[in-house]
Amino acid sequence: MATTAAISLDKLRPAKPEELDARIRAAKAKLGKRAIILGHHYQREEVYRHADIHGDSLMLSREAARQDAEYIVFCGVHFMAEVADILSRPEQISILPDLAAGCSMADMADIVKVERAWRELAQVLDPDEQVTPVTYINSAADLKAFCGEHGGIVCTSSNAQKILQWAFARREKVLFFPDEHLGRWSGHQLGIPLEEMAVWDPDLPLGGLTEAQIRNARMLLWKGFCSVHQMFQPAHIERWRAAHPEGFVISHPESSFEVCRQSDHVGSTEYIIKTIKAAAPGTRWLVGTELNLVNRLAEEVKAEGKVVEFMSPMVCMCSTMFRIDPEHLAWTLESLVEGRVVNQITVPAEEAALAKVALQRMLDVS
Ligand code: 13P
Ligand code: SF4
Repeated sequence: MATTAAISLDKLRPAKPEELDARIRAAKAKLGKRAIILGHHYQREEVYRHADIHGDSLMLSREAARQDAEYIVFCGVHFMAEVADILSRPEQISILPDLAAGCSMADMADIVKVERAWRELAQVLDPDEQVTPVTYINSAADLKAFCGEHGGIVCTSSNAQKILQWAFARREKVLFFPDEHLGRWSGHQLGIPLEEMAVWDPDLPLGGLTEAQIRNARMLLWKGFCSVHQMFQPAHIERWRAAHPEGFVISHPESSFEVCRQSDHVGSTEYIIKTIKAAAPGTRWLVGTELNLVNRLAEEVKAEGKVVEFMSPMVCMCSTMFRIDPEHLAWTLESLVEGRVVNQITVPAEEAALAKVALQRMLDVS
């Protein structure tokens, strides 16, 4: 199908927010059940309100697998639309309204570096016997395929501990990529001592480790991080607790180990939302995750007298997720109404088949 649209994105630029909103609603109504819009919790409000289903990465993966719609319009980032393509039926079409909506953390690991790490590990041990590769869902499809091929699995922020248990039941060690922090926090929750977790720097020979360090490690943590969550600091929590000793702190596990350790609760975006919504009226919360989520949640619970505050004094938005704006959503939907598919995400068949093995293992375990 053609990938160039007759409707020009540039012509939508000067449109007023109300006009864009109306155009999105009208195009959505015309498409009816043919299109489903999935929206991640970090999505800006002007886009979020048009999503049929909201969720964290695990929920949205499950939803992508169970939808019947011809078009799955993913208001999220690239790896999420890839997962939707892999888990949906072959005739369904996964769309990312702006192809530039990537994930900077996902880009910190690539197949060349992961394959090199596997070869280097083979100088010290037998990785296919001793190491389970575990990729965070925030990764390219070829890394999920690597895990599918090498007895590995995918995890998300909401199931990482269960997935690690699965992995350790099979092999003695885990190579966890690309998020060092989620790996460390999840390993720590399972009781793995910090000294048995080593950071694998993909830009150094042998990951910058000695053979003894590799043999001693139960978890090899890829040196990768989220640019948003790295902004949260223990000092932010300490200052806030001094001012609000009665308050609660909740963080996403992509935050640093110290931030997670000092938090009262740690969990996925869905977990953060559910925990605060279920909390007693009048409670006060400091939240370490992306700003759009925090602002929306603060609005939603304020009628119950709950106060929700953002952890960092700096603005920390997921700038790539933010690229999905109402203009792109209107353009995508109106193009579909005209019978043109724009920004389709297609994972090559062989890669998709292997990636699906690793994703299916995750869905079965979760
Ligand atoms: P969740 O799966 O918790 O929604 O996290 C996705 C993500 O990218 C957080 O930065
Ligand atoms: Fe990626 Fe961080 Fe954005 Fe999540 S918040 S999608 S990890 S860049």
